[in-house]
Amino acid sequence: MSAPTLNTVVPVLEVAQLVAGYVPGLPVVRGASLKLFAGEVLTVIGPNGSGKSTLLKAIMGLVGIASGSVRFAAQHIAGCPTHEIVLSGIGFVPQTANLFATLSVEDNLRAGGHLVRSELGERLERTYAIFPALAQKRRDKARTLSGGQRQMLAIARALMTNPRLLILDEPTAGLAPQVIGEVFEQLKSLADSGVAVLLVEQNAKAALRQSDRGLVLVEGCNRIEGAASALLADEEVIAAFLGRGDRRGSRTALVEAVSP
Ligand SMILES: Nc1ncnc2c1ncn2[C@@H]1O[C@H](COP(=O)(O)OP(=O)(O)OP(=O)(O)O)[C@@H](O)[C@H]1O
Ligand SMILES: [Mg+2]
Repeated sequence: MSAPTLNTVVPVLEVAQLVAGYVPGLPVVRGASLKLFAGEVLTVIGPNGSGKSTLLKAIMGLVGIASGSVRFAAQHIAGCPTHEIVLSGIGFVPQTANLFATLSVEDNLRAGGHLVRSELGERLERTYAIFPALAQKRRDKARTLSGGQRQMLAIARALMTNPRLLILDEPTAGLAPQVIGEVFEQLKSLADSGVAVLLVEQNAKAALRQSDRGLVLVEGCNRIEGAASALLADEEVIAAFLGRGDRRGSRTALVEAVSP
């Protein structure tokens, strides 16, 4: 984590009592709250359908917000159009459709950076310095990349607007175990450079090991939150997410554990 500065006093992102969903009167996110500071990694875990993706989409202005607040760099952004939210300094890597398969690596990066007109070349070179493997493949079509390289490209694309906050939805889904570690190390090193990182993950153990804090979301509400090290040692979290790797069974266990 970065050294304490004023930025650790004012959260980069503050979500309070957020209620959001797809159909009016049927909220999926039901009062979720979180705070994220510069240089931190916060991982959100939770059972299938608990509203993790919807929470991220609501922050990005992609899902209707019924009540509650979203503040980025102390500015209220709930209800703002997505392109303005991106321009204000939030990068988003959705779980699917996060790059253009038929375009080259470089054209994907240009598309990611197009909202910010100035210094595109400089931003491209900075991004290639962070992801040297992509520089070697700058003219290759995205669809020819390996799964891990594609996910790195999706992350790189989101970094092209120089965000202060990077939000990612299951960035390691479908990746081989050794590549999963590389993605988390990359995210940790971005956080060390001062970027705040908010991610939703199924690979809970590997993600929490590279995170500062964790949040368990169940039925759209905060269920457990705290230091990542504390969640890694929490019996309920271990039983539900960090156990023998029976993903479906273990996630069902937490739903049963919290059901009345
Ligand atoms: N576009 C949509 N329109 C209507 N309902 C949706 C839509 N997307 C998701 N939902 C519903 O919202 C609820 C929460 O979905 P969400 O995708 O946020 O869960 P999640 O925690 O990300 O789950 P997973 O772990 O499977 O990714 C589910 O009941 C789902 O069916
Ligand atoms: Mg999801």
